[in-house]
Amino acid sequence: MKVTVVVGARPNFMKAAPVISALKRRDGIDVEVVHTGQHYDERMSDAFFRDLGIPEPTANLAVGSQSHARQTAEVLTRFEEFLRNTRSDLAVVAGDVNSTIAAALAAVKLLVPVAHIEAGLRSFDRTMPEEINRILTDSISALLFVTEPSGLRHLQREGIPAERVHYVGNSMIDTLLRMKDRALGMPLPPGIQAPFGVMTLHRPSNVDSPAVLAGILDALAGLCRDLPLLWPIHPRSEKNLEEFGLIGRARGIPRLHLLPPCGYLEFLAMMARARLILTDSGGIQEEALVLRVPVITLRDNTERPITVECGGNLLCGSEPSRIRAAARTMMDLDPAEFRIPEGWDGRAGERIADVIARFLKDPWL
Ligand code: UD1
Repeated sequence: MKVTVVVGARPNFMKAAPVISALKRRDGIDVEVVHTGQHYDERMSDAFFRDLGIPEPTANLAVGSQSHARQTAEVLTRFEEFLRNTRSDLAVVAGDVNSTIAAALAAVKLLVPVAHIEAGLRSFDRTMPEEINRILTDSISALLFVTEPSGLRHLQREGIPAERVHYVGNSMIDTLLRMKDRALGMPLPPGIQAPFGVMTLHRPSNVDSPAVLAGILDALAGLCRDLPLLWPIHPRSEKNLEEFGLIGRARGIPRLHLLPPCGYLEFLAMMARARLILTDSGGIQEEALVLRVPVITLRDNTERPITVECGGNLLCGSEPSRIRAAARTMMDLDPAEFRIPEGWDGRAGERIADVIARFLKDPWL
């Protein structure tokens, strides 16, 4: 049986890697990787393949950066063509990026069943492109792999048949646990010593508006007086800082270190030693919890409520005063008291491979 694992953007790689390696160890399953090319820079893509040991893709669809409609349409068209020229018994997609829904849709229309890693998450914020991608992907998937209890509730409420839904834990955390020791052996960027905080920012709601981005810089200027901050900048955010004339202001904030995007290990090395993480990413909220580093999330909602319930995450939106207050609150907590969700134990990839192996023996759409 042949399983086609589709990846496209940075957060997909660490979710798919453990599933790819668990499937490769199964007899009778042939695994191929297809890269949509949504992310293509060395530091956004190749560095992750290398760090995580993901096999060379059979195909790179090279869709690149485009508007939502064009990017989605290119993945749809090119992945459909790929599938027409091969045989696949299951397409595996991960997360909530445009490549996820596009690859799932192309596959299911060709009667190739779809498995979705990280199903059921909901922010209930339909202005987020990822929320639309999640809802649509879940609705057409034959196998839905859930990472946290809220996912089970959402899928049940949306009428997804229970036999499709599997609580498996978090495969991205498999990757983190596998790589953590190696990352801790890596040096920090030159001139950086603990204590420090780490920040990531790339959501359109934070970086596409000059006023919001300028407010966040004000908050950072205040925070950096107490704690130096490392900020590996996503290309989208860097482009906007330049376009809005804010890059000089960002560079001028004392103790704010602007860095290029990092590879997986390099970033994990920073996160694992951080005193505080500021982010608007989804996955980093989860990684921070397992690393027991307090995180403040510069959003008003999260599709990962378990990270808040377990004590490690506080939502603070993008208002400067709320950001500063949230940072103080979280730095006062004892991370030893954070709880770790069920199944975030390094074995999720194996559990996913178990379900897939059973499904391939008796598939249904
Ligand atoms: C995408 C995902 C988002 C995910 C994020 C992680 C969607 C809708 N969004 O957002 O969910 O959290 O990836 O990074 O799928 N760019 C480069 N080099 C690259 C890739 C992108 O320079 O390798 C620049 C381009 O200018 C591009 C911009 O970043 O226009 C945005 O890239 P895109 O993939 O469209 O969305 P992200 O913001 O990365």
